[in-house]
Parts: sequence; structure tokens; C-alpha cells
Amino acid sequence: MATPRSRRPSPAAPAPRAELPVVSLADYAERARAVLAPEVWDYLAGGSASEVTLAANRRALDRVAVLPRVLRGVDTVDLGVRLLGRRYAMPVGVAPMAYQRLVHPDGEVVLAAAAGAAGIPYLASTLGSTPIEQVTRTGADVWFQLYWLRDRALVSDLLDRVVEAGCRAVVVTVDVPVLGRRPRDLRNAFRLPADVVAANLPDGRDALAHSGAPGVSAAAASFAPALRWADVAWLRERVDLPLVLKGLLDPRDAAEAVRVGADAVIVSNHGGRQLDGAPASVTMLPEVVDVVGDGCQVLLDSGIRGGTDVLRALALGAAGVLVGRPLLWALAVGGESAARDALALLAAELTDALTLAGCTDPVAAGELRTLGVG
Ligand code: FNR
Ligand code: LAC
Repeated sequence: MATPRSRRPSPAAPAPRAELPVVSLADYAERARAVLAPEVWDYLAGGSASEVTLAANRRALDRVAVLPRVLRGVDTVDLGVRLLGRRYAMPVGVAPMAYQRLVHPDGEVVLAAAAGAAGIPYLASTLGSTPIEQVTRTGADVWFQLYWLRDRALVSDLLDRVVEAGCRAVVVTVDVPVLGRRPRDLRNAFRLPADVVAANLPDGRDALAHSGAPGVSAAAASFAPALRWADVAWLRERVDLPLVLKGLLDPRDAAEAVRVGADAVIVSNHGGRQLDGAPASVTMLPEVVDVVGDGCQVLLDSGIRGGTDVLRALALGAAGVLVGRPLLWALAVGGESAARDALALLAAELTDALTLAGCTDPVAAGELRTLGVG
């Protein structure tokens, strides 16, 4: 066994990781973990049941190999895209995520401001901890994510507010008839702190009650579990804004979404937080793209962690992606400036990825070939 003396002197001791520069979105994770209460970290990070789908999202993305093209004279890349008929600076949106004041005192307002500065859409959750009117006041392009409440009159009131506030789209999340059971939250008996409430709901009720956390049941009544396509058709008639359905995986559902007049679908398994055992969302992307054709735009989320993942999604036919947890990590670590940095990093990574793949813009990436590897 080597004695300490026989070892070669080590070079200068490595700097503590926290002082190294952030060079990937993953670098925000450990920093966020260090500053968040463990039960809040678990709420963000966790998935449902055995977290099989949560893990599958990453594995499946890693298995998508993109065949780069060469000698195509790419010297500048334009990341701009059209989503829902509007121009955005890159094919990325901020995924709707509940209760952002859990991780930063100004939660939704600063993350929306960062999205606005980056020129990308901010999807505001029904379960935002800041009223929607304050979120749109940041000047960001806000798409409102609707959790359908049992009480149709409340849905109507909410839609009126959303239109009045200037939201650009309504995104109905369709994979939450009930909230998935999240073992981490159950073990932690996770509850929201008193100052973090669902600010868009009349009595700020805690809709996380659906997760089955012990002793919490008051709000289990708030979401409508038995939504049907007819309800979406009602919404289509009711609101004169682009309509998006988030959280479908089966191409048959995507075809139905086109039939009811959706302007886009988001292929998603809710970041592995709903049906455990559902496939990685990227696995279903090609079939969904195929089925919808020109019928509507297709976006993807669940596990996107960098520019190469965005390239993978584009190459498989997505018009764009949503990014979830990494932006909450950045928000927790450094508020608006860290969220801006995270989005700038993602833009830089995507620029590199497109350049290396021989593409001048996101649309060109749709022509790339992909292989399943590993
Ligand atoms: C979510 N997600 C979510 N989706 C939604 O439609 N409404 C919501 O209120 C929430 N809330 C929420 C909270 C937290 C803490 C997380 C992590 C996620 C799901 C989200 O929009 C998105 O589908 C996934 O987060 C995407 O996966 P990644 O990027 O986090 O892996
Ligand atoms: C979640 C819900 C609120 O995933 O969508 O926690």
C-alpha cells in the first residue's frame, strides 16, 4: 500500500465546487440543493412512485444521437423561432411550475422577467404563488397554464382574468386528473409554508393536497378529475387565444388535439411526476410529430438539460422545448440574474450545437437524421 510520502505531491487543491464557474445547467442543481430546505429540494427534484419515468427521461434523451452535417458554410446561427404565431428568441419556453415563491421571495415575477429579457415565453401556472396580473406586468410573453377547476364558473373567471391580463395563450395541462403520488413529499409530510399560496385561486387553497400528503385534504376538491375532449372544445370556443394541450404522450390523443383545434401540443410526462411507468416523453415525440403533421405545433418537455437536448428535440421534429427544474435551481441560487445567466448559457449551448450540426437555425435542425444508440 502506498504511504502518503510515496505519493506524488498533488497539484494545488481543487477549489470548492461552489466557487467553480457555472458551465452547465446541472451546475445549478448542487448549488440549489445547498440553499434549499431538504423538503423543498425534494418537492422540486422528485417524481412519482418509483421515479422510473423520471430517470427514463434522461436516459432516453442520452440515447438520441444526432448525425451532424458538414461543410455547409454555417458562420452565424439565428436561434429565432415562431411559436403560436409569435416570434421568440429561441425555441425554448419556461415550463409552468407551481409555487415559485418556495425557492425565491419574488418567485414568478423574477423568473418571468428573466424569460422576458431572454425573449422567450414564460408559462405561468394556475398554481402560481403570485397573481397572474403581476406576472404579466413584467412585460414577458406569458402563456397561462390552466388546471381545470371543478367549478366551471371559477374556470370562466380565471379565463377572463387571463385574457384581461394580456396572456398570449392558454395551456391546458391534461395529465393531472389527480396529482401523482410523490413518495418524497409523503415521507416529508410536505406542506407549503403559510406565506406561499395559490395566488390565482379564490381562497389560495393548497392544491398539493392531491399528492395525498397526510392530513391535507381540504383542496382535493379543487381540480376536475373527469375532464373530457368536450371540455376542451368548450374552451376552444370560449377563449380567443391560441390553445395548447400539455401532457399527452399517445399519438391518438395528439390527433384528437388537432381535431378540437389545438394550436400546439406539449409532449410531456410532467417531468416524471405523474404516471410512473409512462414512457420518456422524447420516446413518443417522433410518432406524435408524424400524426399531427401540419395540424399543430409540437413541443417537448421532461429532462431537457442543455443545448444538445434542444437539438435532439428539434431533430426529432419538435418546434421547441420547455425547460423546468433547472430554471428553479437557478432561481433558488441567484434570483433573476442567475435565471438570466441560465437562459443565456442555454442559448450559447444551442448556438454551438446547431453550428456543430451544420444548421443555421432551428428549422434546419428538423432535417437532421437521428439514431437510437446505447
Ligand atoms: C411542475 N410541472 C407543472 N406542470 C404544470 O402544467 N403545472 C404546474 O403547476 C406544474 N408544477 C410543477 C412544479 C414543479 C416543482 C416541477 C418540477 C414541475 C411540470 C413542468 O411543467 C414540466 O412538465 C416538467 O418540469 C418538465 O420536466 P423537467 O424539465 O423539470 O425535467
Ligand atoms: C406538480 C404540480 C403542481 O407537478 O403540477 O407539483
